[in-house]
Amino acid sequence: MKVLIVYYSTYGNVFKMAKFVAEGVREIKGAEPVIRKVQELIPASVIESREDMKAGREMQKDIPQVTLDDFREAGAIAFGTPTRFGNVSAQLKNQIDQLTSLWFAGELEGKTAGIFVSTASLHGGQETTILTLMAPLLHLGMILVGVPYSVKELFTTQGGGSPYGPGHIAGQDSQREIDQHEAIICRALGRRLAEIGLRLQKK
Ligand SMILES: Cc1cc2nc3c(=O)[nH]c(=O)nc-3n(C[C@H](O)[C@H](O)[C@H](O)COP(=O)(O)O)c2cc1C
Repeated sequence: MKVLIVYYSTYGNVFKMAKFVAEGVREIKGAEPVIRKVQELIPASVIESREDMKAGREMQKDIPQVTLDDFREAGAIAFGTPTRFGNVSAQLKNQIDQLTSLWFAGELEGKTAGIFVSTASLHGGQETTILTLMAPLLHLGMILVGVPYSVKELFTTQGGGSPYGPGHIAGQDSQREIDQHEAIICRALGRRLAEIGLRLQKK
């Protein structure tokens, strides 16, 4: 079963989280991660004028852009986004808004979904971003999963991560690396999507 990990990332933090989610998927026999990015909406001239944005783009240059077939072929889907004013990034929302044909055909109904997020600051809106992104995924008929408290790092994380999904605190300059606890919570989401996706597929 393919687990699609579809994400948007300007500076590379959400991309790095996607790779940790993929590691978790790989731990489950019968599941295979597929990492895909969405279309960039920031004008190329703006990216060219910023060293940090250019570095983020360079990091992801070999990641293919997601297609509707990637969504069709996946048994489970992880959605990754940076927080924008307490909410999902326009880039990821733009992709979700292009799922209309799959929505009308009910093709995403019954697929397992989870959300991971990066913010600059500790209380910058990880939970609001995840909870508000759950609304369109419910419209699409997806079955949402978070990360349960049996993942003990939810109690000890000094960065991101909550029962709603993995989180990363990137810092004001978006340069803080993903710490050990945040990475463990990312892997836990990958395993959970793979396990529950496989279980639902068998029915
Ligand atoms: C327009 C804009 C809005 C943002 N809004 C928030 C916010 O509400 N809360 C927060 O903590 N960080 C906010 N940030 C910071 C980003 O979330 C942060 O740069 C991001 O998590 C880094 O992820 P990336 O490296 O994958 O792009 C904002 C950044 C931009 C450019």
